[in-house]
Amino acid sequence: MSDSPARTEIGDLAAYAAAVQTAVAASAAYYGEGDSPLDDDAFDRLVRGIAAYEAEHPDEVLPESPAGKVAGGAVVGDVPHTVPMLSLDNVFSAEGLRMWAARLVRRLGREVAAWSVEPKLDGMAISARYRGGRLVRLVTRGDGAAGDDVSHCAGMILGLPARLARPLTVELRGEVLMTRAQFEAANAARTAAVGTTFANPRSAAAGSLRTRDHPYKVEMTFFAYGALPVDGTDDETAARLRDLPHSRVMELVAGLGANTAAATSAPGTTATSIEGVLERVEEIAALRAGLDFGIDGIVIKADAAADQADAGLSSRAPRWAVAYKLPAVEKITRLLDVEWNVGRTGVIAPRAVLEPVEVDGSTVTYATLHNAADIERRGLMIGDHVTVYKAGDVIPRVEAPVVHLRSGQERPVEIPAACPRCGDEIDASQQRWRCVRGRACHAVVSVRYAVARDQFDIEGLGEGRIDQLIATGLITDFADLFTLTHEQVIALDRMGETSTTALLAAIEGAKAKPLNKVFCALGVRGTGRSMSRRIARHFATMDAIRAADAAAFQEVEGVGPERAAVLVAEIAELAPLIDKLVAAGVTMTEPGAAGPAAREAPGEDAPSLPLAGMSVVATGAMSGPLDGLSRDRVNELIERAGGTASSSVSARTSLLVAGERAGSKKARAERLGIEIVTPEEFAARVAAFL
Ligand code: IVH
Repeated sequence: MSDSPARTEIGDLAAYAAAVQTAVAASAAYYGEGDSPLDDDAFDRLVRGIAAYEAEHPDEVLPESPAGKVAGGAVVGDVPHTVPMLSLDNVFSAEGLRMWAARLVRRLGREVAAWSVEPKLDGMAISARYRGGRLVRLVTRGDGAAGDDVSHCAGMILGLPARLARPLTVELRGEVLMTRAQFEAANAARTAAVGTTFANPRSAAAGSLRTRDHPYKVEMTFFAYGALPVDGTDDETAARLRDLPHSRVMELVAGLGANTAAATSAPGTTATSIEGVLERVEEIAALRAGLDFGIDGIVIKADAAADQADAGLSSRAPRWAVAYKLPAVEKITRLLDVEWNVGRTGVIAPRAVLEPVEVDGSTVTYATLHNAADIERRGLMIGDHVTVYKAGDVIPRVEAPVVHLRSGQERPVEIPAACPRCGDEIDASQQRWRCVRGRACHAVVSVRYAVARDQFDIEGLGEGRIDQLIATGLITDFADLFTLTHEQVIALDRMGETSTTALLAAIEGAKAKPLNKVFCALGVRGTGRSMSRRIARHFATMDAIRAADAAAFQEVEGVGPERAAVLVAEIAELAPLIDKLVAAGVTMTEPGAAGPAAREAPGEDAPSLPLAGMSVVATGAMSGPLDGLSRDRVNELIERAGGTASSSVSARTSLLVAGERAGSKKARAERLGIEIVTPEEFAARVAAFL
């Protein structure tokens, strides 16, 4: 990757003047109301184009040009900052970072002692002034020299304590943002109260900070990335803030009770070489999709106070820090339509049809919308400009409409009153709507799925043939296939003696398929091939599966409480179909699997242990059946049940056992979306090994 990112081409003075005007308006909106008509990528491209034009035509530079200014020159605020709140220079590639670091080393005339590497949080910069340990004032960055007083927001920001753990007088600097959950909640509340939404978490944080009298409740989150001595700071603290390396200052800030940017990607926030920094950059970039808040880059800072002091500042940014920008994962595009699809199990799900847009390396044309309530909550209209989010393998999703870009031509999304496939009623009692006919609504698709290669593997049953079997009333589901007679089949159109015999033989052969294929053919919601294999191996017989409750299902690797509940409900619903299969003589056992009963017998070679393949971390005080067990004994238990015990939570952790007083590990697991269970729940899962 080169280090010269794309920019808008600007050919002449008129185009330049127009570009400056667009950028100034966008920047004012971004730092003011928080709603910019351009996404970050488009804005950055424009400013780079402006800067390139200015470099070639220095005498045409307009005074209001945003290029090279903090906050793009959007001037707001009347509270002067103690020390200017600067911006950061950017690099876009490993090569760009190496060049930047080499320049810094040349300037210093020595190697940099250590580097700190932190995520660059995508929110609003804020300064939080504490006197005697009490939060006394909150100020936005504004133009860098002065900002707005937003102290009225103090009670709404998690991670920014009203009182520090010690009565210090200091200024914390950091970013205020909304987590995904906070954003969803704020938008739902805002829609209900004032009928409009924020376009994305960043503008939601910006807008909420600026609002004085909130007609609805919002919650935001703070992460500190710096701390400064101010008037009144005691000498000892001032000396520590001045002399300690940045990473140690951040530990001190965390000790005072504030969230820190560094702690979002711990362990290991420092590196001693640029190659080591690049490894950390990769690690943080890999965590990005799993974080529940937005990051738009990674900040690399000379860690040692002496290196920072000697590197100094430019008018816009410190010379000791740089932002390694990551590709944008949010774009603005148009919502062209909403499609309603009926799935195999009768679930009716809306899908957004988008004007194709490139996000994080792939073209996005569709995005999930979970249900009608989701569409209403987001206040979407056909024709809207919408923000679309996609990171890594995450399924693209529509965040919100960009309300101020509406032209008046937008139309409401039509919510179907009947099943869009068969016209029967919709069961809207659950979050996910379903056709009241359930699987029967889409029988062709579920039969097709059941007979496909990976399930019953019945050759000669294409969609046309299945349609015909359903239309003539010979089958209503795939279990009916097993009772078809020669007479019935040969009577069908385009069916001869040979093809009839072949089809019936294929159906007969399918009866011998092992349980995992039979189970998979049922098309239980939330299970595919590999989950079906795990379930079949775990329970060994269909009888055991039918007898299992939610707790028993949770013993299967990868089944959490939510999925377990769905499994129980689905299997109950499928009882008539399963009964038919049993009566037809279809195989209901898994060869080679011992099942739970055998597994409990000592000395048996357990074929699938409950924690097989899982990396498990235990933290906090153990209770219930695990009460009094040392960490060592708990780890032993994890290993006996087939898992790997580990002491630190990372993206690779599969499960966290969190007891009373679980602290940062739990917070981290929550952020990474890792499954968390209590010691009691965990004991139930590994009961056979206690
Ligand atoms: S250090 C002198 N660290 O990014 C500025 N900034 O584009 C030192 N930001 O103004 C800033 N995460 O608002 C720093 N871990 C982090 C950050 C971070 C987000 C913001 C900050 C800054 C902007 C520059």
